[in-house]
Order: sequence, then C-alpha cells, then structure tokens
Amino acid sequence: MSDILVHVEAGVMTLTFNRLDKKNSITSAMYAALADALSKAAEDGAVRAVLIQGDATIFSAGNDIGDFLNAPASTPESPVFRFLHGIASFPKPLVAAVCGPAVGIGTTMLFHCDLVYAGDNAAFSMPFVNLGLCPEAASSLLVPQMFGYHRAAEALLLGEPFMAEAALEVGLVNRVVPPTEANSIAQAQARKLAAKPLSALIETKRLMKKAQQPAVLERMDEEGQCFGRMLREPAAKEAFTAFMEKRKPDFSKV
Ligand code: COA
Repeated sequence: MSDILVHVEAGVMTLTFNRLDKKNSITSAMYAALADALSKAAEDGAVRAVLIQGDATIFSAGNDIGDFLNAPASTPESPVFRFLHGIASFPKPLVAAVCGPAVGIGTTMLFHCDLVYAGDNAAFSMPFVNLGLCPEAASSLLVPQMFGYHRAAEALLLGEPFMAEAALEVGLVNRVVPPTEANSIAQAQARKLAAKPLSALIETKRLMKKAQQPAVLERMDEEGQCFGRMLREPAAKEAFTAFMEKRKPDFSKV
C-alpha cells in the first residue's frame, strides 16, 4: 500500500501518512505524492478542501533521515520544495489533524494549514539546530511572528518539543481533542468548509494571506538554499549518522 493514502469524498481530499513502521517519516517519493495530490486538488473542481492527517499515535517524524544522508534535496524542482511551495500557495482550505509527535516538517507544514486540530498527545518540535540544520518552510519567519521572539527562540534554538496545550496557547492549533477523535473532528470541519461557496473561500484565503505571501515564498527559498548547503556539512552528517546508529551525536569537533 502507498505511504500516502489519497481519498476524495464529500468535496474533501484526505491525505493520510501511512508509513507507521518508520513513524510516518517522509521520503522523497512521499513528498512527490503529496505535491502531486495538492496540485490535482487545486485544479479539480470536485475538491473543495484538503485534510492532512496521520495516525492517533503519530503525525510524522519529519523528513526521512536516510534520505537526508543519501539523497539530500538540492534543487527547486526537488519533491520537498515542490511540496513546500504547493502547501504555501494552496488556494483552497487546508485542514490538519495532528496526534503524537510532529517533528520538523511535521510541525512546519502546519503553519501553512488554515485549521489545525490536535490530539492531547500531540508533541510538536522543530529540532533543526540539533541536526546541524536551519529552519525550513518559512518557519524562521512564521514562528517568531506567531509565538513572539523569545518563545520562538526556545522552539527553534533549543529545538525542544512543546505539547498540544502550549500550541493552542500560541495559536498554532484551533482545538485540542482526544487523539482517537482528532481525524474525525478535522474531517467534519473540512466537510463544513467544503459545503461553503468555493469562490468565497478562495478569495477570503487569498486576501488573508496577501500581505504575507511574497515574504513567505522569499524566506522559503532563502532557507532552502541554506538548508541544502547545511545538509552536506559535518554537523548534519554527524547528527544523521548518530540517529541511524542509535547513539547520541558528538558535535565536539564541528
Ligand atoms: N527518518 C527515518 N526513519 C525514522 C525517522 C526518520 N525521521 N524517525 C523514526 N524512524 C524510524 C526509526 O529509525 C525506527 O526504525 P527501525 O525500527 O528500523 O529501527 C522506527 O522509525 C521507529 O522509530 P523509534 O525512534 O524507535 O520510535 P520512537 O517511538 O521511540 O520515537 C520519534 C519516535 C518520532 C520521537 C523518533 O523516532 C524521532 O525522534 N525520530 C527522528 C525525528 C527527526 O529528527 N526528524 C527529522 C526532523 S528535520
């Protein structure tokens, strides 16, 4: 079965991470599937809202670390950049249901969703520094704006996880719900959106995002260049190798 499940019903395209044995970490092929689905959803009149969800125990462990080590993305045509541009520019409503760990891009993609429902077990983290990397998905711009600078510094410099209640407090999630109900609550909200006039949804979303959009895309590109370079540097290599070897990284020489 595919690692990304795509299902369209009642005007909602539901994208489900389906790689539980690897904690829903996202491979290059999965980014390509997500980017293709978003592009189809944007065009297809039968799709009026998109829901991104994982499992009640895990949303996503972020980028596949084996891919980071062996096939780091480097060009704007790479599937990960196609996905990031797709999600940041997606014209219709995007809803997310998040339970358990949401690591790296598992958290940063949420800044581009319109509504986010979190299980009370959700644990968000952006451990880029701990991996010898810099933020992505315009999170270096959007996290300070949403959290305030000092809380953003805690999240992005220390890279420590924060739980659903803290995410609710800063405005990253709309509601905290029981994990077994998160996907169905988010699905019901997506269906509510799908029943509304699509042109009004599209214009409203466009107007809400208009002032910010150029800066978001520009920051995403700048981060992408920095991230691509840092993926090949010794700190990141040590972090990824340590993860694969199930040991603590040793940054004393980098
Ligand atoms: N890339 C590739 N494989 C991953 C992965 C990732 N990002 N995250 C987890 N896995 C794999 C593990 O290697 C392990 O594989 P194995 O069974 O073949 O040994 C399997 O998924 C289970 O992971 P494990 O770490 O044992 O699960 P856990 O429940 O103890 O912890 C997490 C879950 C998400 C907290 C932990 O896996 C984690 O921190 N992952 C890395 C997150 C990360 O740094 N992502 C990059 C962000 S930019």
